[in-house]
Amino acid sequence: MSETLTAGVVGGSGFTGGELLRLLDGHPNFEVAQTTSRSYERKTVGHVHPNLRHLDLRFTSPADLESVDVLFTATPHGVSMEHIDAFQEAADTVVDLSADFRLSEEAQYDEWYDGHVCPEYLDKSEYALPELNRENLPGAELIAAGGCNATATILGLKPLFDAEILSGDEQVVVDVKVGSSEGGAGASKASSHAERSGIVRPYAPTGHRHEAEIQEYLGLSVSFTVHAVDMVRGAAATCHVFPDDPVSKGDMWKAFRGVYGDEPFMRTVAGGGGVYRYPEPKSVAGTNYGEVGFEIDPTNRRLVVFSAIDNMMKGSAGQAVHAANIAFGLEETAGLEFTGYHPIGSP
Ligand SMILES: NC(=O)c1ccc[n+]([C@@H]2O[C@H](COP(=O)([O-])OP(=O)(O)OC[C@H]3O[C@@H](n4cnc5c(N)ncnc54)[C@H](OP(=O)(O)O)[C@@H]3O)[C@@H](O)[C@H]2O)c1
Repeated sequence: MSETLTAGVVGGSGFTGGELLRLLDGHPNFEVAQTTSRSYERKTVGHVHPNLRHLDLRFTSPADLESVDVLFTATPHGVSMEHIDAFQEAADTVVDLSADFRLSEEAQYDEWYDGHVCPEYLDKSEYALPELNRENLPGAELIAAGGCNATATILGLKPLFDAEILSGDEQVVVDVKVGSSEGGAGASKASSHAERSGIVRPYAPTGHRHEAEIQEYLGLSVSFTVHAVDMVRGAAATCHVFPDDPVSKGDMWKAFRGVYGDEPFMRTVAGGGGVYRYPEPKSVAGTNYGEVGFEIDPTNRRLVVFSAIDNMMKGSAGQAVHAANIAFGLEETAGLEFTGYHPIGSP
């Protein structure tokens, strides 16, 4: 399909907004017509994102939205739910990167967030983690791209469910290490270089909001802890699983190959030789690939499942473009073919 569709990016001056603009710049079907920022109105996109200095595009106010085919909204939690009517008025399809439309029940927003101002939209939105539910996305008008830590966790554990190694009753402990870009471009005391450099800091030891997403879309309540570590990009989930019955390496390979064998963006890495024997954020930095892998610990009747993504790609902007490709019936991989660099420095 060689059709050209127009795209807008609300929140284009942020980290995921910048990644959306980068991806759309290389996309064969989407062409950016507008991007917004209140702080950088009238400034060029290259003023904020130096990798995009070649673009002839300036930020406009989100109050002056133009009509487009697809509108990506990369704004902090709470903004999209407040402006959803205007966003939907401007575009056939809205792809929201925030948590505003990911969960299906208002009560979940009361429990995990600060409530919801337009719960009537929750029924109309489609959660997007294409490897989980791509069949829901064609023609969708409101898409909620999955959260980064939830995406890493769900991608790691899904094969165990599909192969019935997990039923949903077992205890699963998940530890996620995340890079600083997860916090967005806005400054806070904790994100200053002096405070953030060199850390391995438990920032959400319990009660992380993505637990709600994992519970809803994987059907499993996980014991979930997130550490902020000294990298810019990346989310790496280590899942400790205690199945009732013994599981062999062959069972695990079968499970992972069965689910991801034909997936364009998934790679299974589990042992073998070389330096990169398990998933690592560094191997997928800047790309829409997700890596998953595992190891067996028979002594403790434990499976260890690893999963690594780039939080700003497979965990947000890449996932959003992937979902839009499916929604519009385009090639799933369009604009997302970049395979990353090796070697690279800290991602
Ligand atoms: N960073 C990640 O790794 C990641 C991963 C998954 C999901 N997400 C989600 O994606 C969303 C964006 O994250 P981010 O990290 O890109 O955030 P960010 O770097 O802080 O960028 C936020 C953007 O939203 C704009 N904005 C803020 N308030 C606004 C308002 N009231 N109306 C219109 N625009 C507004 C900001 O520009 P102005 O203030 O200049 O308008 C900025 O361009 C968040 O909901 C986040 O939870 C982020």
